[in-house]
Amino acid sequence: MDRLIKKNLNKRLHFTTNIDLSVQKADVVFITVGTPIRSNGDIDIGYVESAAYKIANNLNGYKIIVLKSTVPVGTAKHIYRIIQSKSRVTEFDLVSNPEFLREGSAVHDCLYMDRLVIGASNKIASRRLEQLYQSFYFKEVIHTNFETAEMIKYASNTFLATKISFINGIARICDQVGADVEMVAKGMGLDDRIGKKFLKAGIGFGGSCLPKDTKALIRIAETNGYDFSLLKAVIKTNLEQYKYIIEKLLLATREIEVKTIGILGLTFKPNTNDLRNAPSIPIIKKLLKLGFVIKAYDPVSIKEVKRKFSHESNISFFCDIYKTIDKCDVCMILTEWDEIRRIDLKRMLQLLNYPIIVDGRNIFDINKMESFGFSYYPIGRGQPTLGM
Ligand code: UDX
Repeated sequence: MDRLIKKNLNKRLHFTTNIDLSVQKADVVFITVGTPIRSNGDIDIGYVESAAYKIANNLNGYKIIVLKSTVPVGTAKHIYRIIQSKSRVTEFDLVSNPEFLREGSAVHDCLYMDRLVIGASNKIASRRLEQLYQSFYFKEVIHTNFETAEMIKYASNTFLATKISFINGIARICDQVGADVEMVAKGMGLDDRIGKKFLKAGIGFGGSCLPKDTKALIRIAETNGYDFSLLKAVIKTNLEQYKYIIEKLLLATREIEVKTIGILGLTFKPNTNDLRNAPSIPIIKKLLKLGFVIKAYDPVSIKEVKRKFSHESNISFFCDIYKTIDKCDVCMILTEWDEIRRIDLKRMLQLLNYPIIVDGRNIFDINKMESFGFSYYPIGRGQPTLGM
């Protein structure tokens, strides 16, 4: 992203706080504002609406307005009506064009799309937007109506969430029956109908999208008279995963006296500094409540996480893995950063008081860990856990 911005800044890329001028000068206007979730699961489309009013005030000729923000089904139509009723210029088209970008690989996902989804009220606008994407790579384009485009976004994200909760459920059983969830996922994923992605068992999905979109679709279903119990179970399973890893820790340490726990990785996934809905946060809160002292490591998010725990005295933060685990009784892995995968296991063994690792992301080979002398507790790899 830095490279792209530097290359194009003040040439083909301009930043401004002047919304009026930027709309007036554009042929195509993208709405990409945030759509936060309310406590009842409703999505707040206030920012999208105010963008629509600003655009309506500044329409000075035909433009295509592209709705990129993730919005409840029916929003594009609503936004179309706002612009239509508030603008003096009547020539415009609105297009719903959801994004499928992952944090940490957004530039790649933008340039190389699995699919381009365009929901529009007429074919001309739809084709024009497709033309705009001509220099991008996409396997297939779907031309459809507003509602279908909006639904594709929610259905995609919530299906990914469902896959993760499903494999986490399988992992729980694997622990009890002596099966290995990594091999189970591999065996399942080789079936093209299932696919191998998003079958990585762990401590549950976090971030700004999967948890939010799952709750939002349950709410959308509810307002349309349908009880989406499957998705409710997806959320329930997800929340149980962080409790499960704590049970694992308690099991792993039942015969020793543990005070200090090293936590490796805090962000909701690697290659981002995002802590939104990161499973590490409730896990740490619970461990502090249980009376443990925490030494936490993350390569990028320490500044942000410190603020979250500013009132806590029993937690300290580190950007160096070895300083983190030095004199810790045991350690837990909560994000699969490369820095953690590459850790010097011999040194780790020397620094920890007990050779116990509870791994919420299954990043190490069990045999290798055992040969180093670790008691290694991954998720779903055949170790019965208390409380099941
Ligand atoms: C997601 C969607 O992937 C993307 O298409 C959409 O546009 C935005 O939401 P993102 O939030 O960046 O992207 O994260 P993603 O890579 O999907 O991971 C979400 C969470 O699921 C992470 O906490 C990750 O650790 C977890 N996850 C992912 C698993 O636990 N197992 C998996 O197999 C995959």
